[in-house]
Amino acid sequence: MANQRAGILGTGHSYPEGILTNADLAKMVETSDEWITTRTGIKQRRKAAPNEYTSMFAIRAVRQAIERARLDPADIELLICATVSPDQILPSTGCIIQAEIGAHNAAAMDVVAACSGFLYGVSLADSMIRTGQVRYAVVVGAEVLTQYVDYTDRQTCVLFGDGAGAAVLGPVDGSRGILASKIKSDGRYEEQLYSPGGGTRRRPTAETLAAGDHFFKMKGNELFKVAVRSMTEISREVLEQGGQKEEDVDLFIPHQANQRITEAVADRLNVDMSKVYSNIAVHGNTSAASIPIALDECVQASRVKPGDLVLMTSFGGGVTWGAVLMRW
Ligand code: UT7
Repeated sequence: MANQRAGILGTGHSYPEGILTNADLAKMVETSDEWITTRTGIKQRRKAAPNEYTSMFAIRAVRQAIERARLDPADIELLICATVSPDQILPSTGCIIQAEIGAHNAAAMDVVAACSGFLYGVSLADSMIRTGQVRYAVVVGAEVLTQYVDYTDRQTCVLFGDGAGAAVLGPVDGSRGILASKIKSDGRYEEQLYSPGGGTRRRPTAETLAAGDHFFKMKGNELFKVAVRSMTEISREVLEQGGQKEEDVDLFIPHQANQRITEAVADRLNVDMSKVYSNIAVHGNTSAASIPIALDECVQASRVKPGDLVLMTSFGGGVTWGAVLMRW
């Protein structure tokens, strides 16, 4: 049935047991709990053990989301895994998850859009559900980012953490569901956040590994400004597209990149901080997993109620950004 709105039917999340605190990092690089807390809001982040990999967390999150949606894995017709830290190059982590959970009727794929990957996936799933191409979709943002973190670079190593969050989408009735979504990118900003080595352009060799070319490099200060500007603008665009006002937002879930970025965007959007969800203190920046982990935490804590207007926005390497506005 074409043109029926898509909504979120179930959510789930999972993360490793390992915790890396600010005190742990202060033993590794020249930093302090005080600097990390005041500049980022982060107190700890989760870190996968060497024998833990991305699909492990994704599978747990996806299973939980499908169960809570009261569906069977065989009902899923589209499975999107948003990740920049896949299990391996081929096949996609989406296909690995598909096989493991038994979602044999799905088209599975990965979306590579860094921290915006989950909202990219939601936007694609929304379109396919609305046009009637698929009925049920699952989008999972999953990362073991710490694999690509240089623990001698104090600017990046304090930020990132591991985990996964998932959402099942399907057609909904009435006023519920996704009112508007928008995704954008600008590849001219590639070098603001990137990992140059390991692909076909800068092939993995003993030299590139020794030089740390596979690690994330970031121009944090410049990225900060672009992040605030992009997330504010695209949030305004989806609010307008969805015919809603900034003051009507009940729950704002921004990508958890930096508490100061969150506060700057909320301030520009005139969204009171009481309506903003933040878990950066305990998770750090988990890239594509950040919004779905936050969303599931909100659902489990009854922080979101039927009829609430929920605004989600993200920004990440690429650079990529996006926003989704929905009526819960
Ligand atoms: O998720 C994808 C999107 N990611 C982002 O949008 C990240 C955006 N950027 C940021 O969150 C912030 O720029 C950072 C947290 C990365 C850095 O914070 P900042 O307030 O922009 O600091 P800064 O880069 O301007 O550096 C200020 C000072 C510098 O020292 P000097 O040159 O003033 O002496 C840095 O070397 O802080 C120093 N510094 C640190 N000091 C202690 C940088 N990292 C650290 C550290 N501990 N971990």
